[in-house]
Amino acid sequence: MYDVLIIGGGPGGYIAAERAGQAGLKVVLFEKNSLGGVCLNEGCIPSKALLNSSKLYSHAKDSSAFGVTSENVSFDQSKVVKRKKKVVRKLVAGIGQTMKSHDVELVYAPAQIESAAADSFSVVADGKSYTGKHLIIATGSEAMLPPIEGVREHLGSTVLTNREILDLEEIPERLVVIGGGVIGLEMACYYHTIGSEVDVVEMLDHIAGNVDPEIGKRLQEVYEKQGMRFHLNAKVMSVSGGDVTFEKDGETHTVTADKILLSTGRRPVIEGFGLEKLGVAVERGAIIVNDKCETSVPGVYAVGDVVGGAMLAHVAYREGEVAVNNILNIEDRMTTAAIPSVIYTDPEVAWVGKTEQEMVTLGREVEVVELPMAFSGRYVAETERGNGICRLVLDAENNTLAGVHMMCQYASEIILACGVMIEEEMTLDEMKRIIFPHPTVGEIVREALFKI
Ligand code: NAI
Repeated sequence: MYDVLIIGGGPGGYIAAERAGQAGLKVVLFEKNSLGGVCLNEGCIPSKALLNSSKLYSHAKDSSAFGVTSENVSFDQSKVVKRKKKVVRKLVAGIGQTMKSHDVELVYAPAQIESAAADSFSVVADGKSYTGKHLIIATGSEAMLPPIEGVREHLGSTVLTNREILDLEEIPERLVVIGGGVIGLEMACYYHTIGSEVDVVEMLDHIAGNVDPEIGKRLQEVYEKQGMRFHLNAKVMSVSGGDVTFEKDGETHTVTADKILLSTGRRPVIEGFGLEKLGVAVERGAIIVNDKCETSVPGVYAVGDVVGGAMLAHVAYREGEVAVNNILNIEDRMTTAAIPSVIYTDPEVAWVGKTEQEMVTLGREVEVVELPMAFSGRYVAETERGNGICRLVLDAENNTLAGVHMMCQYASEIILACGVMIEEEMTLDEMKRIIFPHPTVGEIVREALFKI
């Protein structure tokens, strides 16, 4: 009898397996594809490998303002993709090693939930039955196919999802991105930088989802200046060959592309592995969990994208840990006030906590400080013509930080410190006493704190 059966080896599942193994529990982890899930195989990590190459390329091509000129700069997409595959292979192998070192039994096969008794669960994989006292479901999410005419017919040929777009060996001359959210913007940034003509078609009146509106606008301006086209309030109705037809202001428009990226959101995977045998409560396509990651069935936990909400690898990690701690009877609960979000465009966009608008909607009194990044010495030393920005939203009622929103290089790294300030509910005075390293771009946060 195992202590824990875990279905799905993505960030939620493998971290749960690692932590449970570390704690000495007997664990089996089922993975039908490759360890690391979407994040490592076709999401976070491969996209960062590509984006690093495009950033190097753009810097190599245009650094004359910094006194650096270079000639005959070229971009070898197939080499970039090859390197990306190497990075993924290396990290997948690393997870395998980690599982081994914590005595986690790995089963590379699709798992099917067979039955649930009062104090045990049984799962079948590769013809063998496994029984455990606890079950963690970490089956992740898949690209959502919106009801756009023609999408299914062209899937895999002209229409690509996050999976196929990362493997293109040739740079498309024209790329249309349907959905200006996180995946759409990162891939638009990549392909635009390496030479594609890019159109982004977004249904809402702004890009980047629930980003601070001012920052979303600035990011759009950065790319518009470079020639990327954005069609907002534009709902895609159909795809035919390379033609993408959308409605905007009551009119129909068509843009034409060689490749079309479909990035209109993801949905939890709750089918195909016998979930119905458990009778676990589900709402709007996602498994319902409480803040201990417990489902409605005692002994069954769910973590990661399968529970909906913020579908982020770092949230899945934490959920995996919360689930295991609760299995171990260690008090632990998910908190969501300080979940950082990052868009790895160039410049990066990162935020944590609430926007000013969200606070106002909650009826909270706020103070907002907005500083151009030029207040950071290092930013000025390293950036030409940048329009970076840092916005601090202070909860004026208890003098704590409610949110930080920024656009600049290294924003993804800086935001961590802001998350700690929010999570720890530090007061303004406490935050002002923090010593920041100088010169850093992150010092902007300290500058802003002293403007309140
Ligand atoms: P998303 O939810 O971020 O964005 C989808 C966008 O598509 C929305 O803005 C929506 O309004 C738009 N849309 C939907 N239907 C449309 C239509 N018919 N016509 C035009 N626009 C339409 O979803 P996305 O970008 O696919 O990302 C999926 C998940 O992956 C997200 O939960 C995201 O957090 C996660 N992710 C996180 C990354 C990061 O942390 N850097 C990177 C990539 C993905």
